[in-house]
Parts: sequence; C-alpha cells; structure tokens
Amino acid sequence: MNSAPLTPKQRERILRAATSAPSKHNTQPWWFRWDGDDLEVHVDPERALPLGDPDGREAHIACGAAAFAARLGYASLDLGTETVLLPDPDEPLYVARIRVTDAAPDPRFATLYWSLPSRRTNRGPFRETPIPSLVLEYLRDAAREEGTWLRVVEREPAYERLLTLIRAATGLEDEYLREERAAWVGAPDAPHRRDGVPARSLGPRALDGTGTVRDLAVGRDIPGRGSTAFERRPTIAVLETGGDSVAEWLIAGQALLRVLVTGTRYGIAASFANQPLENPDLRDEVASEARHYGTAQMVLRLGTGTEVPPTPRRPLADVVGPRT
Ligand SMILES: Cc1cc2nc3c(=O)[nH]c(=O)nc-3n(C[C@H](O)[C@H](O)[C@H](O)COP(=O)(O)O)c2cc1C
Repeated sequence: MNSAPLTPKQRERILRAATSAPSKHNTQPWWFRWDGDDLEVHVDPERALPLGDPDGREAHIACGAAAFAARLGYASLDLGTETVLLPDPDEPLYVARIRVTDAAPDPRFATLYWSLPSRRTNRGPFRETPIPSLVLEYLRDAAREEGTWLRVVEREPAYERLLTLIRAATGLEDEYLREERAAWVGAPDAPHRRDGVPARSLGPRALDGTGTVRDLAVGRDIPGRGSTAFERRPTIAVLETGGDSVAEWLIAGQALLRVLVTGTRYGIAASFANQPLENPDLRDEVASEARHYGTAQMVLRLGTGTEVPPTPRRPLADVVGPRT
C-alpha cells in the first residue's frame, strides 16, 4: 500500500482509466474533481441527450462505468478504494466519490486494469462459435459482484422474442432520434474531434437487414461503409438491477464496466442492442423476457470478432474541474 499523496502521473493514470469508460454515442458525459487523493465523479449536463436519454439514465450508467474504471486505475497503483454513491444530497449531479481506503485493493482489479485499453464496443460480425460456458459464468459473476444480474437469454421462446423486440424497436425509434444522433455519430474521421462515434467505428451494415447491432447511421450514406452477414444466432444478455433509481443506474454502470472488461480479458467483445430499452413499454417486455424481477438496464451482444479501432477521448484537461 502507498500512503504518499498521488503524484501527477498517478492521477493521470487514474483519469485515463476513468475516461476510457464507454458512454452512449461517446458523449463522455462526465467531469472529475480531486479532493486530496479521492476522486469525485460528476455528470456533465452539457453533454446530455434530451431525446435519446431524457431522464439521464444512460449518462448515469456511463458515469458509473467511469467510477469503476477509476477504481481499477487506483488498484493498479496498489490502492484500495470504495465507492460512495450520491455523496451529497444537495448536489445530485455529483454522483460518486472514489474514496481511498486503508485496505489492500481487490487483486482482481489490478489484473482487470490491464484489459481496459483493449476494451472496445465492437459493432462488427462475431464468429458463430459459442462463448464457452465457463466464460459466461465469469461474466455473470462480474455482474453479481457489483450487485446486478447478467441474464444470458438462451432458451426459446424467450430468445426469439427478445430478438424480435430488438428488431421492432429499431424500426420505431430511428425517425425522431436521427437528428440528435447525427450530431454525435458518423462524422468523417476528423482528427480534431475528441468525442462521438466516428464513421470508422460504425461497423458494416447487416446484409439481410436483420442484424442485432444497432445501425447508428440509419438512412445516411457513409462512404466506404460496406454490408456483411452477421452471426446467425448472436449471444444476447440483459444487465438488470433490482430497481430503477438513480443509484441503480450508477450500480448498473459499475457492473457494466466490470462485465465488459472481464469479457475483454477472456477475448469476448460486446456491442449493445439497447433500442428496446428506450421505449418504456418495450423496456418492461425486455425484463419480462429475461424472466426476472429486475429492471433491464443494458442489452449486450457478446462474442468474438476481429479487432476494431478505438474511439477518441477528450483531453484530460477538459474533464477535470474545479467547476465551482
Ligand atoms: C449507456 C450506454 C448506452 C449505449 N448504447 C449504445 C447503443 O444503443 N448502440 C451502440 O452501438 N452503442 C451503444 N453504446 C456504446 C457507445 O457508443 C460506446 O461506448 C462509445 O462510442 C465509446 O466507444 P467504446 O465503447 O469503443 O470505447 C452505449 C454505451 C453506453 C455506456
């Protein structure tokens, strides 16, 4: 354990870990502030998606993921931490404090830290080979350790119904979300742009139009973007929490990062099929398809694919406050 204050380099390492977290449309809806060696995580309301994420649920999930990733950064420095969720009732957008403790870090965290840089959302086709059941068990464990459930939906008729919901939702949402999304997604590869999903990360379109990967650029002509056949029977899992409070969104985010980076460690990539979760009726159906009493927070497509390029991140100077 290390009791000297964090050096600037160590702080940078923790922040780089935190900001590597996934976020909807790569909005990176967070900012951070140091309080001694503890790290405050705040939701940034200027990066909200009023149409695509009207309650800020997904922005909170992203901040929960950033909080967990920061803990991995601390662990790599041999520092144990705990997360205090929503530490100040007067400041609802101050969503988490990562507190350094006297305890040694969870040894698994330091290992997971090294998988952070290679974690990416992979919207390409996955191989048909099934994920080994032991690896699925590790992913379920990762979710459970963070107080959530990862329901891998395998059995019929639940599986087919979930796929149908995902595809139906794709048709329902695209019209009204298209404009908001276009500001973030599919920009030609611009070296100066440090957020959003660049064209190179969209992946190919599904040949038969029935892919589970959400096409983030429906109806837009993106030069060089081809079409291809996707895996016939994607592995789909639903990340669920016990309820749907702000705290549970943050818990879902922590669990999401732990599941994703555990997957990375075992060569499993993920993309998301969250489209039915953005429609309140369909969202309830997703949870009931998973035959559980929980609330569906994320729908994941899991598998092994070919490597994809990283998405950009904003410079650390842009995400660290005081912001008083
Ligand atoms: C709460 C949340 C919702 C997301 N929803 C989708 C989605 O519906 N479709 C999709 O393709 N990617 C989705 N993503 C993935 C982001 O687009 C991705 O994390 C971001 O572009 C950064 O890229 P990276 O994950 O490769 O670092 C979501 C991520 C989060 C955290």
